Amino acid sequence: MNAALPAIDRARLPKHIAVIMDGNGRWAEREGVSRAAGHEAGAKSVRAIIEACRELENIEVLSLYAFSTENWRRSKLEVDALFRLLSKYIKIELEELHKQNIRISIMGRIFGLPKKAQADLQHCIDLTKENTAMVVNVALNYGGRAEIADAAKQIAKDAVAGRVKPDAIDEATFAKYLYVPQLPDPDLLIRTSGELRLSNFMLWQMSYAEIVVLPTFWPDFRKPHLYEAIAEYQARQRRFGGRVKK
Ligand code: IPE
Ligand code: IPE
Ligand code: MG
Repeated sequence: MNAALPAIDRARLPKHIAVIMDGNGRWAEREGVSRAAGHEAGAKSVRAIIEACRELENIEVLSLYAFSTENWRRSKLEVDALFRLLSKYIKIELEELHKQNIRISIMGRIFGLPKKAQADLQHCIDLTKENTAMVVNVALNYGGRAEIADAAKQIAKDAVAGRVKPDAIDEATFAKYLYVPQLPDPDLLIRTSGELRLSNFMLWQMSYAEIVVLPTFWPDFRKPHLYEAIAEYQARQRRFGGRVKK
């Protein structure tokens, strides 16, 4: 089986992989099933990518875009199905995630989520808070602009209260006010289903991420797709604005 995996260099893995898990709806349409069934199938890919990253050992953070601040525009039927699925997923998978020494982190406007989802997520955070092997950071009710606006609001409050001097605000100060400031910026962004856009995901943190877009719908995503994305990442030359290294 492993022979079929694209070759990757385990010594040069991205520290932080972020994923825009897109294409559940189109997968469902292709299969002739409901959108909810598409999301359900997507949950299996979540398990697969977490397992595959954990197995690689040196991936520190996996960020997963699960629900955007714009996704409330969908039907109530679909939104309800998504949050039911979230609770079901937690019930089935949390124990194994904990056993794998994975820490769950959540970013987004958590207080805007349904109460049941908030309670279930808090339980995940509390249970896994001491774990050290890898962070799975889930973006829920998350928007990059909302995050930047929330940070600005908090800095303004701190400035008014005299805790921060406006002239002392630089990039590093600002970054400390983001939702999960302790995590490194993503090195690799994977988007499935062929769409070439960020859709409001981690706008601040993506400055120098390498972007790999795969045509695969998210429910079809498995370990070989992860390896393919990592192989493409490793073939890129990162410059960070500097000059090409010879
Ligand atoms: C991604 O799949 C899942 C969420 C946004 C929650 P979509 O539901 O966006 O699937 P498409 O883009 O309609 O195919
Ligand atoms: C981005 O996908 C959000 C998530 C994957 C959670 P969307 O399907 O919502 O993005 P657009 O609407 O195609 O840009
Ligand atoms: Mg989509």
